[in-house]
Amino acid sequence: MTSAPERTLVLVKPDGVRRGLVGEVLRRVEAKGYVLVALEMRTADRDLLGAHYTEHAGKPFFEPLVDFMASGPVVAAVVEGHRVIEGFRSLAGATDPTTAAPGTLRGDLGRDWGERVVQNLVHGSDSPESASREIGLWFPGLS
Ligand code: PPS
Repeated sequence: MTSAPERTLVLVKPDGVRRGLVGEVLRRVEAKGYVLVALEMRTADRDLLGAHYTEHAGKPFFEPLVDFMASGPVVAAVVEGHRVIEGFRSLAGATDPTTAAPGTLRGDLGRDWGERVVQNLVHGSDSPESASREIGLWFPGLS
């Protein structure tokens, strides 16, 4: 008997959209064998972003991060596959794109642009609980 596939929320952040990297991110997700089950481009409002990043409220990077995430459209996707939460975070690489490993999205496509906020191209949920909460925020109609 096989276990049920997991779902995760992936965001291509405003820097990834501005730089024309949406296709490359989604290509790598699909090339790894994961399945896109929902996809939308939108400019998120601060309420949604505050809820999305609620566990980081009060940290020094919280307000700049919300400003950055509201600065332009993002592409939100629900991605499915066995162990996809761990798998996508491995594909994304470490938070800091300067030191993220080559071969990862952030390591291959990201860098430090001298901005106040880390512009690291993508977000992926960090646990099943976060994935369920974040998918509910971004895709409330998805069953
Ligand atoms: S923590 O404090 O260890 O939980 O932080 P971390 O897991 O590394 O990051 C949490 C999310 O905040 C983003 N982050 C930042 N954004 C902008 N500027 C700075 N300095 C910064 N530090 C952390 C980080 O990318 C994580 O967001 P997501 O959307 O998951 O990538």
